[in-house]
Amino acid sequence: MQGRRVVVGISGSIAAYKACELVSRLRQRGAQVWVVMTAAARRFVGTATLRALSGRNVACEMFGAYPHHELEHISLAEFGEVMIVAPATANIIAKVAAGICDDLLTTTINAAACPVIFAPAMNWRMWNNPITQSNVKKLQELGYEFVGPEEGWLACGESRAGRLAGTEKLMAAIEKALGLEKTKLAGRRVVITAGPTREWIDAVRFISNPSSGKMGYALAEQAARRGAEVTLISGPTALQAPAGVQVVYVETAAQMAAAVQEHLLGSEVFIGAAAVADWRPRRQAEGKLKKTQGPPQLQLEPTDDIIAQVAGSAYRPSVVVGFAAETENLEHNALEKLRRKNLDLVVANDLTRPGSGFGSDTNAVMIIDRNGPRKRLDTAAKARIAAEILDVVEQLLGDQ
Ligand code: PMT
Repeated sequence: MQGRRVVVGISGSIAAYKACELVSRLRQRGAQVWVVMTAAARRFVGTATLRALSGRNVACEMFGAYPHHELEHISLAEFGEVMIVAPATANIIAKVAAGICDDLLTTTINAAACPVIFAPAMNWRMWNNPITQSNVKKLQELGYEFVGPEEGWLACGESRAGRLAGTEKLMAAIEKALGLEKTKLAGRRVVITAGPTREWIDAVRFISNPSSGKMGYALAEQAARRGAEVTLISGPTALQAPAGVQVVYVETAAQMAAAVQEHLLGSEVFIGAAAVADWRPRRQAEGKLKKTQGPPQLQLEPTDDIIAQVAGSAYRPSVVVGFAAETENLEHNALEKLRRKNLDLVVANDLTRPGSGFGSDTNAVMIIDRNGPRKRLDTAAKARIAAEILDVVEQLLGDQ
C-alpha cells in the first residue's frame, strides 16, 4: 500500500475506537491516510489519537480542514483512491442513501470519485430494521461496497449481528478496492466483447440494439483491477475506456469477429458480453436510399457466431463465458446456448425484470455452468455483478 491514498471516515459508534487500529495498520503498510470524523464520532474517540496515528490533522469541519484547496470541502473526495467508512452507523448509511450532505463526512462520500466501502456497526435491532436494510440494498445497487457487520458481542450486552468487521477484513476490502489483491487473473490475458454492433442497410441506416456496453466495460474494469491484461473489443458506445484496458473499437459483427480472432492467441479467458447482431443485410445499398422509392426489401443473412468460433477454435481460452439476454424460459434457453456454443459459463439476463439487461446501471443475473445454475444475483450495480462473475471465472481457473 506504499503511498496509496486512503480516506477513513469515522461516524459515531462505540466501535469508533477500532478505527484507530485500522488507521495504524494502514500507516504501517505505507498508505497515506486522511481521517474524517463526524461530531458524534469525536464523542467516542479523540482527534488527538487519530492525528497521531494518521500523521495528519483530522478533518472534521466543512470549512478550514484543508485551507490551501479552493474547494476544501470536496478536496478529500477528489484526492482519495479509496474511502472506507468504519464504523458506519445506521444514521450515516441513511443520510448517504438519501443524498444528504450536512457535514464533512457525508459531503465527502457524496462527492467521492473513488470506491467507497461501508463497514457498519450498530445495535442489532437497528441493523435488522427494514429501513436500514433497504438503505444498504439501495447503496449496494449503486455500487457501494459493504463489509460486515459480523455476529458477536455488542455494546448493548447481546451477541448478535451488528459488530464491526475485524481489521483484517477491512484491510482486505481496501486492498481489493486498490487492486492489490493477489488473484488468479493477475497477469492473465482476458478478451472481452461489449456493446452493440451496427449492420448497415445503406449509408445512413443500420440494424442494431440498445446495448450500452456498461456490462462489458464493467467486466473489463474489474478484470484490470485484478491485474489481468485486458483487451476490450467494443461496439459503438458512449462510455470512456476503463483505466488500464486496451480498447479496440469496431462497428459491425464482422469487424468484431476479426478483432476477436486477432487478439485471441494467448488469452486464457474470453467473455462475450456484446450484443452482436444475429443478422445483417445481405447487401449494403450504395449511398442513401430514397424514401420515395418505398420501403426496401431487406434480405438478411446470419453474422458469424463469434463466441461459438472462439469456443471451437484451436486457440480456445481455458474459460469461455457467454451472456444470454432472454425474455422467456431464462434458465432453459441460457443452458441451451451454453451447450450449443460449447461455453463454460453463461450469464443469463432476464430482460423482463426492471433494472436488468440493456442500458441500465444495474443487472440481475443467473450464472449457469454445464450442471445448471451456480449463482443467482439479485439486482445490483453492474460493477458488482462483474466482480461476482469474475469470482466464478477465477474458481474455474483454479480448478485447472
Ligand atoms: O450493454 P448493456 O447495456 O450493459 O447490456 C448488457 C447486455 C444485456 C447487452 C449483456 O449483458 C448481454 O446479455 N449480452 C448478450 C446479449 C445477446 O446478444 O445475447 P444472445 O443470446 O443473442 O447471444 C448469446 C451469446 O452469444 C452472447 O455472449 C453474445 O455475445 C454471443 N454472440 C451472439 C451472436 C453472435 N453473432 N456472436 C456472438 O458472439
